[in-house]
Amino acid sequence: MAKFTVIGGDASSDLAKRIARKLKSPYIKTEKKIFPDGESKITINQIPKKSIVIVVQSTNPPVDSNLLELLSIVSKVQKFSSKVYAVIPYMGYARQDREFLGGEIITIGVVGKLLKAAGVKKILTVDIHSKLALKELKIPSENVSAMEVLVKHFKKMKMKDPLVVSPDLGGKERAERFSNLLKTDFIALRKHRDRKTGKVNILSGKVDVKNRDLILVDDMVSTGGSIVKATQFLKKQKCRRVFVACTHALLVNDATKKIKNAGVTQIISTNTIPGESAKVDVSRVISDALR
Ligand code: R5P
Repeated sequence: MAKFTVIGGDASSDLAKRIARKLKSPYIKTEKKIFPDGESKITINQIPKKSIVIVVQSTNPPVDSNLLELLSIVSKVQKFSSKVYAVIPYMGYARQDREFLGGEIITIGVVGKLLKAAGVKKILTVDIHSKLALKELKIPSENVSAMEVLVKHFKKMKMKDPLVVSPDLGGKERAERFSNLLKTDFIALRKHRDRKTGKVNILSGKVDVKNRDLILVDDMVSTGGSIVKATQFLKKQKCRRVFVACTHALLVNDATKKIKNAGVTQIISTNTIPGESAKVDVSRVISDALR
């Protein structure tokens, strides 16, 4: 009998199938129907046999609907297995990990409570926004990194004197890891985000990037605001091409257009969120961690 059964939610069905193949485990499909009033109806196509059940579902937009789908699937399958694990490749709400302004709610903590109440025994996620967010979930949780597989992709690309750049100091450790794996150097810019308007500014002074190909490394790209500001700043300092390497490409609204207009040559992301830029597969990283 297989040790695992993998169930894919609507947001992560392709990645879930890949994980099931790697784990040599049965895969169960789900269906989601949205009613005209916005409510969703979720159906699992099969009842899992006795095994550890892994529900794979990212909580990218539509965030709350994808989260509810994950909760619903877990709540159903915990009747058939005492070990239900949630693989949440992209963990939404992880940026709401502290009270930045008075009165703000630490929503990632609420997400943790909901997952626990639904029956999740363990969470596996990829490049969660912060260690604090992982702690706030208050369920046994593991975070794996996509940096190695991203670097593998970049190693195959022809780059001129590459330099890794983190758009903010918070991403310094990530950029350092990326640059060590790529065997090059890195810098981290100083970014300021207005907590009320969300507007981003780069505060760094002059940086030495002349004639170098740059790789902006981030955990996620959402509106593209951080990448656009960083690219405009770096282009002024006469760098060569700018590439973006990120784990989670949310690319909301016209983010791709804004990023391209700022002068970015290419965005490379992973399949934690499917899309045009998702060139790097994380199914091996996830299945190795589950084994
Ligand atoms: C922030 O600290 C994150 O690491 C990302 O840089 C940020 O969330 C990206 O958001 P946006 O694309 O909207 O600037």
